[in-house]
Amino acid sequence: MNDIPDWRNLVVTLDDDGLTALARGVDRVIESLRSVEEGPRSNRSPDQLHELVTGLEICPEVGIALETVLEELGSIVWANGVVPSDPATVAHLHPPALVPAVVTELAIAATNQSMDSWDQAPAATEVELHLMQWLANLIGLPDSGSGVMTSGGTASNVLGITLARSWAAAKLSVDVLKSGLPPQAADWRIICSNQAHFSVQRAAAQLGLGRDAVVTVATTSSGSMDIEALDAMIEELSRLGLHAIAVVGTAGTTDLGALDPLTAIGERARQHSMWFHVDAAVGGAFLLSGRLRTGLAGIELADSVTIDFHKLWWQPFNASALVVRDVESFDLLRVKSNYLDRGDELEGMVNLVGRSLDTSRRFDAAKVVASLRTLGRHALGEMLEHLVDLARYAATTIDAHPRLELVAHPASVMCVFDAPGAGPDDLRRVQQHLLARGEMVLGRTSIKGRAALKFTFMNPLATTDDVDRLIAIVVKELDAN
Ligand SMILES: Cc1ncc(COP(=O)(O)O)c(C=O)c1O
Repeated sequence: MNDIPDWRNLVVTLDDDGLTALARGVDRVIESLRSVEEGPRSNRSPDQLHELVTGLEICPEVGIALETVLEELGSIVWANGVVPSDPATVAHLHPPALVPAVVTELAIAATNQSMDSWDQAPAATEVELHLMQWLANLIGLPDSGSGVMTSGGTASNVLGITLARSWAAAKLSVDVLKSGLPPQAADWRIICSNQAHFSVQRAAAQLGLGRDAVVTVATTSSGSMDIEALDAMIEELSRLGLHAIAVVGTAGTTDLGALDPLTAIGERARQHSMWFHVDAAVGGAFLLSGRLRTGLAGIELADSVTIDFHKLWWQPFNASALVVRDVESFDLLRVKSNYLDRGDELEGMVNLVGRSLDTSRRFDAAKVVASLRTLGRHALGEMLEHLVDLARYAATTIDAHPRLELVAHPASVMCVFDAPGAGPDDLRRVQQHLLARGEMVLGRTSIKGRAALKFTFMNPLATTDDVDRLIAIVVKELDAN
């Protein structure tokens, strides 16, 4: 690595010289990660971070040695990030990543396959198809099941609901991609619970149905969809002459991790000809554990399923999938072009662009396959069960604590609680002060109007001692307020 880089040495080539240069860069990257100190985050303020980061000249007239650039990234950026592998990082569905996935990221970037067309990703296309077939089987879908990788749970939900909308239009012999929404669409509704992720509303908004097309049904005290309320909603919509085109079940809600009763919802979907989308962004990984998968019974009735590998499958962002019951559903969104997916390719040359709302797309399937093959089902199941057990341990401890109160019994990896006598502003102060001081990245939310704090356990290396420590820190901070 010379001081002034020669661009000829900075283009990745996969020959000996290219790979040697890459390996040197990797060593430097690893060194840069040594700048990260213990704890969930540094205590630098937004102003300090702004000053540090804006001190970097984005594109100097003459380049700087890679070594220096990487060192600066280490001391300025990585050192001031959030550390998902720290046991006190418990705010979000934000996991530490797995080694096989992270090292495979390098190969994904170095080989730079693009998943839109077979002629940019021949073996990679087969890998993604193989992974999607495996996932469809794991869910219990018929052999017609398959899917596509997306950038996240939001994108997968939008894609699933897009298919539902196109399917509803196709039933009226309307090609919605060509002629837009039919007049009947004004009466279309999408049903989900009041704990479903906001991306359901976002999908309806983007699809031209409007957020008001999403109607929410009540949930039980554990946060899962109340089936009696669903039945009442279906009846009410029909009485009003409205048409429920889709119902969304959530397998693991964002805050409480609640699992909707998917069998009962799936049966209603069949009975009333609704598309059944399951948002299993959070709970989908439970399919890997014999003990936990019972909570997902009924997922096999779905027409489409969101699975987020970058949550409880410990993949670095981005890695998500939308899996469908019948691969032909993707024809509902296929757009042909002159340069991609022309439809006249040789037998077997699948262009995945036909399944996606993206065109160019990363080969994220590779890191998922590398991780699944390296860890295997047994270890992954064990890791998940440990996290569920940690959430239960936290719940039991909080339940017995005089200063704290559990909001709901955990159904998966979250534990939501508040403190009697402390108002929303007190909880806000606790969470914000711990964040500002770099002591804990704690979750804060509101469940049915009740302000609450939240632990989301994503780190399989965390222990019950860590949980005790986190609870003690929160209580100390509450008392200090
Ligand atoms: C239930 C659920 N669905 C979807 C999403 C969106 O996922 P992403 O952040 O990957 O877009 C989330 C995010 O937390 C979620 O909890």
